[in-house]
Amino acid sequence: MKQPRVAIVGATGAVGQELLRVFEERDFDVSSLKLLASARSAGRTLRFRGEGHQVEAVAADAFRGVDVAFFSAGGDTAAALAPLAVDAGCVVIDNSSAFRMQADVPLVVPEVNADALRSHQGIVANPNCSTIILVLALQPLESAAGLEAVVVSTYQAASGAGQRAMDEMFHATRAVLDGLEPPAPSALAQTLAFNVFPHVDEFMADGYTREEDKLLHEVRKILGKPALAVDATCVRVPVARCHSESVSVRLSRPLSVEDARAAFAAAPGLVLDDEPASVGYPTPLTYAHRDACGVGRVRAGRVWEPGLSFWVVGDQLRKGAALNAVQIAETL
Ligand SMILES: NC(=O)c1ccc[n+]([C@@H]2O[C@H](COP(=O)([O-])OP(=O)(O)OC[C@H]3O[C@@H](n4cnc5c(N)ncnc54)[C@H](OP(=O)(O)O)[C@@H]3O)[C@@H](O)[C@H]2O)c1
Repeated sequence: MKQPRVAIVGATGAVGQELLRVFEERDFDVSSLKLLASARSAGRTLRFRGEGHQVEAVAADAFRGVDVAFFSAGGDTAAALAPLAVDAGCVVIDNSSAFRMQADVPLVVPEVNADALRSHQGIVANPNCSTIILVLALQPLESAAGLEAVVVSTYQAASGAGQRAMDEMFHATRAVLDGLEPPAPSALAQTLAFNVFPHVDEFMADGYTREEDKLLHEVRKILGKPALAVDATCVRVPVARCHSESVSVRLSRPLSVEDARAAFAAAPGLVLDDEPASVGYPTPLTYAHRDACGVGRVRAGRVWEPGLSFWVVGDQLRKGAALNAVQIAETL
C-alpha cells in the first residue's frame, strides 16, 4: 500500500477537513481520493493539493477500488457502511465510537500501542479525542512507575462536537457581544457563550456521561490495564480548538517530579512545556494546529503517595482525530 487509493467518509466535516490538511502537510501519498459525505453535500467542491474535488453522496458501493477509507461521519454511518467497505477490500480507520470496544478491533494511538495493529481484521478504531491526548501522557508514567488510578477533568473545545457546534459558539458569542439573546443551542447541550458546562455526550444511569465512560474503557484497552481506576469529568468550554485536561494519578512506585518531567520530555508525541515561573505551560491557543501535545504544571500530588498531578493540552481535531488516523495508515 505504497500509494493507497483513499476515501474520506465525512469529508465536509471538521475532522474530514483536517484530514485533508494533514494529508497535504505530511505528503501522505494518495494515488486517488474520493470525498464522500451525506446527500446534503453532494456536488460541493473541496480543494486538495490545489485541485477541486467533488463531494459524492456515500453509497454502499462507494468503496470498490479504494484501499483505505477514513470514516469521520459518526457512529451510525460507520456501523452501517464500514463492514461493506471491508467486504470491498478496504482497510477502515474509523473516528467514531462504533467499533472501539469490539475485541477484534484494535484501538490505536501509534506512539503507545502500534503493535495492536497486527491483529486488525479490516477495521481499526481511532480513540476518542480526549483519550488520545490523555494516554500520550499516561504511557510514560506507566512505563516509569506503573499506574494505579487516574482522575481527570477535561476542558473540551467546541469543535470537539463538530463544525456546527463551533459555528454555534461563535454565533452565540457574537449575539451576546451585540447585546442580543444568544440563539437556542442545537448542536451543544447549552449555550457556550461565556459559559462552561459539565455535559459532553449523553448522561447514563450512573450519573456519568458517555464521554466520561469512553475515557475509562478506552484508556484501559489501549494501555492493556483492564482494572485501572479512571474517574473522569468532561466539561465543554468556550474554546475553538484543543482539549485541555487536568490529571492526577496514583502510581505503583515512587517517581520524582524531575524523573516524571524527563519521562514526559522523552515521550513521542509530547512536548514538556513546564516553566510556570515564566508563564510556561500549554494552552489551547499555543497548541492549536500543532501535532504535539503539551504537558506542564507537573507536580507531586497532594492526595496520593506516590502520586503526581499535571496538565496536558492537545489539538483534538489534529492529534485527537485526523493526525492519529493518518499515523495509523502510515504505520499499516
Ligand atoms: N470534532 C472532533 O474533534 C472529533 C475528534 C475525534 C473524533 N471525532 C468523531 O469524528 C466524527 C466526525 O466528527 P466531526 O466533528 O467532523 O463532525 P461534523 O463536523 O459534524 O461532520 C460530520 C461529517 O459526517 C457527514 N455525515 C453526517 N451524516 C452522514 C451520513 N448519514 N452519511 C454520510 N455522511 C454523513 C457530514 O456530511 P454533511 O456535510 O453532508 O452533513 C460531515 O461530513 C464523529 O464520529 C466524531 O465523534 C470528532
